[in-house]
Amino acid sequence: DETKTGVQGLVNAGIQEIPRIFIHPPQNIPKTTISFDIPVIDLACTDHASTLDKILKASENLGFFQVVNHGIPTSIMNEMLQGVRRFHEQDVEVKKKFYTRDPSKAVIYNSNFNLYSSHVADWRDSFFSYMAPSPPLAEELPEVCRDIQIEYSKQVLKLGGLLFRLISEALGLEPTHLGDMDCDKGMLFLGHYYPACPQPELTMGATKHTDDGLLTVILQDETGGLQILYQNEWIDVPSTPGALVINIGDLLQLISNDKLRSVEHRVVANQIGPRVSAACFFSTNLAPSTKVYGPIKELITDDNPARYKETTVHDYTNLSFSKGLGVPQLLYLKI
Ligand code: SIN
Ligand code: FE2
Repeated sequence: DETKTGVQGLVNAGIQEIPRIFIHPPQNIPKTTISFDIPVIDLACTDHASTLDKILKASENLGFFQVVNHGIPTSIMNEMLQGVRRFHEQDVEVKKKFYTRDPSKAVIYNSNFNLYSSHVADWRDSFFSYMAPSPPLAEELPEVCRDIQIEYSKQVLKLGGLLFRLISEALGLEPTHLGDMDCDKGMLFLGHYYPACPQPELTMGATKHTDDGLLTVILQDETGGLQILYQNEWIDVPSTPGALVINIGDLLQLISNDKLRSVEHRVVANQIGPRVSAACFFSTNLAPSTKVYGPIKELITDDNPARYKETTVHDYTNLSFSKGLGVPQLLYLKI
C-alpha cells in the first residue's frame, strides 16, 4: 500500500536516505555535461523553407528541438504545469484512487510504470491518460486538473497536426503524408513529478531511454534536468521561457528509415524540487490497433533500402513495456 503514495510519499515521510531499489549502478549516474545549443525554431517565421531546413537538421542530428510561437498560450502552459503539480500534491487518499498498473484504466497513476520489469527505480511519479483519439469522460479525469488537461491536450493535438505537416514536407513528402498515416491522431498525456531528492548522486529522475512513439511534445518547468546524448556526451536541454521541447520517437525513426533520429535522453535527480513536466506522446496503443507502420515507400530507393520490418504501434509499445526503460528495442526490428 505504501507504494501507492509514490516517491512523493517517501519524501513526505521525511526519509533522508533513499531506499535500495532507487540506487542506480554507477554507470547510470550523472556525468558532466558539455554545453551545446538545442535549436529554438520559431513556428511563426514566414521563411517557410528555412523552418523546414531547421526542423530537418535538428531532427537528423540531435533528434530534439525547441519551438516558440507554437500557438499555445503561456497562460495555458503555466496552468498545465500547476495542474500536474496539484495532482501529485493533492490529498493522498484521493490520489491513491488513481493508483493502478492496469493499462485499461482511463487514468493511470503510479511510480515507475516499469517498476516490475526494471532492476532499479527512478525518482519520479507519473500519471497518464490517452487523450486521443478517444479521451476519457471528463468526470473520469482527476478533478484537480481535468479542465486544463482537456484544454492543453486539444492545443497539443493541433500543434501535432502542424508539426507532422512540417516534418512531412521536411522529408520531401506531401504535407499531409504523415497525417494521412494517422501519425497525429493518437496522443498519450503524461504528468511527471520529480520530488526533491536527498541523495541525487545515487539515483536518476528518468533512466536514459528513447521514446517509443512517433513524436513527443515536452512542457518542462524552470528546474532543468532533462539531458540528451549527443556524440556520446550529455547536453542539457535548458528551460526556455515559452518554449516546448519536441523530440523524435522510435516509430518516426523507423518510418523515416533512419532519416530522423530517436535520441537517448534522461532526467537527472536533483536536491531541489519538485520538477514538474507534461509530456505528450503522439502514438496510440488503444484497442489493439492493427495499423502497420514500416519505412515510408517514397523514402526507399535501391541505394537506400528499407532498414526495418513493419510493426503495429500496439506490438511496439508492448515490446517497450516488457523490456523496460533504456532498452533499444528498435534494434529488434532491424532488417
Ligand atoms: C522523459 O523523457 O521521460 C521525461 C521528460 C521530462 O520530464 O522532461
Ligand atoms: Fe522520454
